[in-house]
Amino acid sequence: MAQSIITNWEPKHSALYGKHIVHLQHRLHESPLFSDDALADLIDRVPRQYYHVNTMNTDRHAPGTWREGDFAGASGREVMDAVRNGNIWVLIQQVAELDPAYREVLDQLYGEFEHHVPGLETFKRKMSILISSPKVQVYYHCDIPGQSLWQLRGTKRVYMYPNSAPFLHPEAMEKIVLNEADEQDTPYEAWFDDYAEIVDLNAGEMLHWPIHSPHRVVNGDCVNVSFTTEHWTTPLRNHYANVYANGILRRNLGINPSITPSGPALWAKLAIAGMHRQLGFRKKNKMAFKIDFRVDPQAPGGFSDIDAFELAK
Ligand SMILES: [Fe+2]
Repeated sequence: MAQSIITNWEPKHSALYGKHIVHLQHRLHESPLFSDDALADLIDRVPRQYYHVNTMNTDRHAPGTWREGDFAGASGREVMDAVRNGNIWVLIQQVAELDPAYREVLDQLYGEFEHHVPGLETFKRKMSILISSPKVQVYYHCDIPGQSLWQLRGTKRVYMYPNSAPFLHPEAMEKIVLNEADEQDTPYEAWFDDYAEIVDLNAGEMLHWPIHSPHRVVNGDCVNVSFTTEHWTTPLRNHYANVYANGILRRNLGINPSITPSGPALWAKLAIAGMHRQLGFRKKNKMAFKIDFRVDPQAPGGFSDIDAFELAK
């Protein structure tokens, strides 16, 4: 039997998981799967549609400065060097599909949560690895599935906010779910920070927060390696259908609908959301990204500007 990944689970976490912020310790920062060599190898293997590399302003919240790039022509080692000395953020998606060793870790960690949390049954699990330069930021946003953040190297400050107004208005989440807005379009005000739970996340620690909780991340002055996990459960899917159907009802009937967790109103919403998606009314998932820089370990910032081109993902 493999050693457990979570090292400090207590009975209280079974009651808290999914409902409040949970901050736990794990041992994956010691795993060779996340060493520099393993990450460089993963970067060498990742197909273009499974990664993002970004740069952004690092001294204030400025979503308009978020840029998309490419690491064509650079080896995994060179990308790692550019991260170390530059100002970039690398996201490797679908890691469990790329390599069964990561799938094994992903399944083990969800197995542990399902063992500890009564009734928890997760599906559509995903892992994404984040390799990022000192001081870079991920601006205020919320994610659609259940999300956790696992720290492997370095330190980052994570700001987590309540998943209700004024931090997240129902209309803002409906736009994201209906694909009318990007996650990072979630409206943010600096005073929200006074109401945030703030955690300095160190190697060997992880966070899980309630569904759709807005959050933002600021790296310490050091290279950061982390991964995110995402999952669905039946209650999360029902919540998604609620938000989705409420967005449609608001647009078509001009009413202000609320979340209905069970019963015939929920069944109606599942039907509305299902039919709407099936009929293809939701905007396409496929997005076009403007790629305007290339990773370059020799350049200041770790990247060079290039003539912009579009990439559909
Ligand atoms: Fe996120």
